[in-house]
Amino acid sequence: MGILLKNGKLLELETGELLPREILIEGKTIQKIAEQLDTTGHEVVDLGGGVIVPGFIDMHVHLRDPGLEYKETIETGTRAAAKGGFTTVACMPNTKPILDTPELMNYIYETAEKTGYCKVVPYAAITCGGRGEELTDMQALKEAGAVGFTDDGVGVQVAGMMRTAMERAKELGLPIVIHAEDESLSGKGCMNEGEVSKRLGLPGIPGVAESVHVARDALLAELTGAHLHVCHISDASAVDAVRWAKRRGIRVTAEVTPHHLLLTDEGIDGTDANWKVNPPLRTENDRKACLEGLLDGTIDMIATDHAPHSVEEKQRAFQVAPFGFVGLETVFPLLYTELVAKSQQMTLQQLVHKMAVAPAEVFDLPGGRVAEGGVADLTVLNLEEERIIDPNDFASKGRNTPFAGWKAKGWPVLTVCEGRITHSRP
Ligand code: DOR
Ligand code: ZN
Repeated sequence: MGILLKNGKLLELETGELLPREILIEGKTIQKIAEQLDTTGHEVVDLGGGVIVPGFIDMHVHLRDPGLEYKETIETGTRAAAKGGFTTVACMPNTKPILDTPELMNYIYETAEKTGYCKVVPYAAITCGGRGEELTDMQALKEAGAVGFTDDGVGVQVAGMMRTAMERAKELGLPIVIHAEDESLSGKGCMNEGEVSKRLGLPGIPGVAESVHVARDALLAELTGAHLHVCHISDASAVDAVRWAKRRGIRVTAEVTPHHLLLTDEGIDGTDANWKVNPPLRTENDRKACLEGLLDGTIDMIATDHAPHSVEEKQRAFQVAPFGFVGLETVFPLLYTELVAKSQQMTLQQLVHKMAVAPAEVFDLPGGRVAEGGVADLTVLNLEEERIIDPNDFASKGRNTPFAGWKAKGWPVLTVCEGRITHSRP
């Protein structure tokens, strides 16, 4: 017996057409796609006219497990992912302890297998403990299933250390994934350095703290031949550096978050730490540069940087509260509403490309398409129904979002991961 999806419209990724199609899933595989299929012997699921797209893939998620389970667990984080339409997430190693051993890679895979609502692929740390002093055993970490290496949360400060990391990553055929931040420039900053930080009297993080690392690491990628992936790009000059590197033929890819596409530092009042994130929300010029980079192919994909923290932590004063926003449950409706439906700055298929197809291609992961014989990772969207974002509804333990109260449409109503229904909205 299989699962037969009826009354849905399949998004044709090349043309953007919505085709009436029925889908038969057997085991983990999409067995058949046709205008009409025989329902006999199958569990029929009525999609109510929803739009079928490949399951989303988020290459930047903090699951906080092990060690920081009060913020999130693999179970709650992947439940939030499934609710947001995701079938695969890559988890960041800045847990407690830092993911820097094969045993910890195994822990992630085993716990996700037992308790998860989507596939979880772990990144391993570049340096032991994320301290920037000594490289991890990258080969052993690859053998244990690491999909790339990153010290996300902090930048690797020493260029020579990054060079050696890239040489090893190149040999192993895995990407180096950077949190671009030169600490001698970012210092104790808690928001973007500019007009707004001056007005509020808060210490700033200049855009160049990001772009000097992007430029440095692009040059090191050219030298070593490694694949460099730039996390959460937020600054106009950093986007330009990636554009320049791509033109030069350097193997560089980049991601941008929903908050850097939709918000600026003008929204910060200096009291609400639900607006505090790293890299910080920047200027309208930077926001536009990120969007332009996404549309012209400089930026390959969208990633949320889902970074849950407790309510108590985010109630602290702006300067001392931790950085980060949750994002998994709201990214698609927010971007669909703001960039597709309201302003037509993107098409639906472009957005789906950036959230599913591109991450699968760049990181060589299964999924990213809905096709006969392919893995049954898919999401069904209700593009019409509008809802107000209420953090109390989140499956994530995190409530920390600057988007509370925003009205959005395009909610995932069904998520299927490897043939299993992982989210279904009543
Ligand atoms: O805002 C952020 N939160 N940026 C980071 O780089 C780390 C993340 C976290 O782990 O909370
Ligand atoms: Zn980061």
